Amino acid sequence: MAPKAKPIIFLLLNLTTILLLSTVPVQSTAQSYTSVVISQKGLDFVKDLLVTEAISSLTPLRLPQIQQSVRIPFLGNVHMVLSNITLLGIDVGSSFLKPGDTGIVIVASEMTCNLTMNWRYSYSTWFLPVSVSDEGTASIRVEGMEVGLTLGLEVQEGKLKLSLAQCGCLVKDISIKLDGGASWLYQGMIDAFEEQIESTVENAIMQKLKEGILKLDVFLQSLPEEIPLDDTASLNVTFANEPLLCNSSVGFEINGLFSPRKIVPVLKYQENDSESPVSCMDSESLVSCMDVSKMLGISLHEFVFNSASALYYDAEFMQWVVDKIPDQSLLNTAGWRFIIPQLYKKYPNDDMNLNISLSSAPAIVVSEHGFDATVYADLIIDVVEEGRIVPVACISLVIRGSGLAKLLGNNLAGSVELDDFVMSLKWSNIGNLHLFLIQPVMWTLLQTVFLPYTNAILGKGFPLPIIHGFTLENAELVYSNSRVTVCGDVQYTK
Ligand SMILES: *[C@@H]1O[C@H](CO)[C@@H](O)[C@H](O)[C@H]1NC(C)=O
Ligand SMILES: *[C@@H]1O[C@H](CO)[C@@H](O)[C@H](O)[C@H]1NC(C)=O
Ligand SMILES: *[C@@H]1O[C@H](CO)[C@@H](O)[C@H](O)[C@H]1NC(C)=O
Ligand SMILES: *[C@@H]1O[C@H](CO)[C@@H](O)[C@H](O)[C@H]1NC(C)=O
Ligand SMILES: *[C@@H]1O[C@H](CO)[C@@H](O)[C@H](O)[C@H]1NC(C)=O
Ligand SMILES: *[C@@H]1O[C@H](CO)[C@@H](O)[C@H](O)[C@H]1NC(C)=O
Repeated sequence: MAPKAKPIIFLLLNLTTILLLSTVPVQSTAQSYTSVVISQKGLDFVKDLLVTEAISSLTPLRLPQIQQSVRIPFLGNVHMVLSNITLLGIDVGSSFLKPGDTGIVIVASEMTCNLTMNWRYSYSTWFLPVSVSDEGTASIRVEGMEVGLTLGLEVQEGKLKLSLAQCGCLVKDISIKLDGGASWLYQGMIDAFEEQIESTVENAIMQKLKEGILKLDVFLQSLPEEIPLDDTASLNVTFANEPLLCNSSVGFEINGLFSPRKIVPVLKYQENDSESPVSCMDSESLVSCMDVSKMLGISLHEFVFNSASALYYDAEFMQWVVDKIPDQSLLNTAGWRFIIPQLYKKYPNDDMNLNISLSSAPAIVVSEHGFDATVYADLIIDVVEEGRIVPVACISLVIRGSGLAKLLGNNLAGSVELDDFVMSLKWSNIGNLHLFLIQPVMWTLLQTVFLPYTNAILGKGFPLPIIHGFTLENAELVYSNSRVTVCGDVQYTK
């Protein structure tokens, strides 16, 4: 038996250290407003998934035929052929996945495999000049097998690139059980084929794993760079910086902003380029749910919400004419008789509508308490006179609301409440208005028209950057200064 190299795990860990010493960390400056951190619990989940996938792709596996002539005492040369060597099952005793500075090490050990094969032999000797042959089946058990991989994970042009830096497979022990056949044959088989079977198994498994990693790489490369949301917007899920491979977590930084599907004028919010986290400690504290033992945390900077706000504002989504409200009497000048008497006097019993448009993109701030939004709107009071729309006055509003996010499956949605608002008269064709009289009516309008409309939009939410097939579970939201973090587990459903 050939001397065995030291266990693969040491080889791989050593390799990681060597790579570590020879690599200079690359600082990248792409902007990232959403971070995804997978905790050790999440990495273990991924590892179990990979091991299960690997086993199901490995079994059954047909290995190449082996033949050899063996000298057996008293018999002379015996020609033996092992064919239809089939790997039937693999059991993994233990496994782990550990991120290192230059890659991800996955080791599976205490593995056992079951194989079956067909054997055939023939020989002729001086005392039996006719050739003798026989054949049968055998089962093989491989024990103490160890498989290790070091995977390189990097970002190339906004996409994740997975590569196989190192791959090893070692078989410690093998036992062969013949169905039929004589004991000399058994011994001859062990002596002659043990190593070959071992290396055949090792090579076949490594070959399959290489193919598997290639497939996984193709899959990762095929992840979309943007998620279309509607005609106006898509979510930019381009990877912005190199993955952060930390001691017990892997962090990804993605752009995360809403971006226009068609080219429209440049977004009007200010980007802050000092936001990108650079170290593992930053990353782990950024996603502040690691202490509650969730598989992953997705942390969204308030710029994500402001990019949505700016985008839809630019796309002129934020303007609408209200001509139906719960209290329809408020859309006739008669309903305003006591509030704006001169309006009723000038346009008695005429229908009205309200033309609401935002004067700038709503500003959203995330704090420990949740979301605060400030909305700047102009409300034009129109009178419909003989089918003609006559604008009569314009009131500027600064509306303050606060809200909380909620999770709908893999979507982040939300709702707001009205906190307060201030009004000022922008212009009027009907003289001065008593704003304090209008205040209660405006409150009702905002509560019954503006809020339900806004909440209907916010209620749908937008998708979190989670790979298709995974669903968020047991998730909760953590608010911190300028960030909201989704902490949760995932389930995999093919
Ligand atoms: C090869 O092995 C498989 C698995 O044990 C078995 O199902 C199949 O019948 C075998 N084929 C031949 C030709 O012996
Ligand atoms: C291998 O075979 C043994 C005995 O037949 C069985 O107990 C064991 O579960 C099998 N293992 C695998 C991985 O198929
Ligand atoms: C990672 O682990 C090593 C040794 O286990 C320790 O020295 C180092 O401080 C850890 N780094 C972080 C960022 O936790
Ligand atoms: C998406 O994000 C990447 C990385 O930040 C950036 O380079 C790219 O320009 C963005 N794409 C759009 C359409 O905004
Ligand atoms: C950018 O972020 C830093 C730190 O969070 C802050 O001090 C600075 O005021 C921000 N700049 C802008 C333009 O928002
Ligand atoms: C609503 O007001 C805006 C100006 O704020 C104006 O451009 C638009 O034409 C008005 N729409 C209607 C239907 O009156």
